[in-house]
Amino acid sequence: MRRRLAAGNWKMNGITADLVEASAIGAAAQDAACEVVLCLPATLVPQATARNLNKALQLGGQDCHAELNGAFTGDISADMLADAGAACVIIGHSERRQFYGEIDVQVAAKAKAAWNAGLTAIICVGETEAQYRSGQTLDVLAAQIAISVPTDATPNNTVIAYEPIWAIGTGLTPTLKKISAVHAHLRDQLPDADIAILYGGSVSPGNAPDIMALGDVDGCLVGGASLTAEKFAPIITALETAK
Ligand code: PGA
Repeated sequence: MRRRLAAGNWKMNGITADLVEASAIGAAAQDAACEVVLCLPATLVPQATARNLNKALQLGGQDCHAELNGAFTGDISADMLADAGAACVIIGHSERRQFYGEIDVQVAAKAKAAWNAGLTAIICVGETEAQYRSGQTLDVLAAQIAISVPTDATPNNTVIAYEPIWAIGTGLTPTLKKISAVHAHLRDQLPDADIAILYGGSVSPGNAPDIMALGDVDGCLVGGASLTAEKFAPIITALETAK
């Protein structure tokens, strides 16, 4: 049985007052038939831990440094996230790759750091709109997987998120047929075929039932729609009831 996981990515959104939404999402996670994760801004992880939102709600970070500690001003280590109560961390999100120039070898190093701290690494891959339009999607993803995902990744310590960059925050999504084809292709490239593969990019309460029902889709990584329980709870339900 592969892991099934609804993961929210709050990105650079959220202050203490917004933890009411995290708390409501925790209530939605209660008794859920899938894992529910909220990747909060690092400042909110210890606060959410202290509030003991719900045992069923796992907390996550959005990035970590590859080193355990040291002179890296502004960075956060995987150990720090684990210490703050995180169980997961997003690695290699396209916004990290795009705005901070992260490349595949760094992503792999960060994934290993996450494992060493006992965290699940949610490793993101995805093609640009130009690559999509020129039919390069599968090749681009194969190249990203080959280097970003360490060969000793296991279903226990790693989750892959397929996020077409052009679908993030745009309201656009690939067709269901394309999502299926990409996920099947990704599964062939992974070091272990039982590693869960999430779809991410404009997942909403409206499209989640159809996307989550696809055979090789094991869950979702959700940005905008994870900020409120009103939008994220139906997505969790869609994943739970999909199969
Ligand atoms: P979105 O973001 O759901 O707002 O498109 C997804 C992500 O970046 O993980």
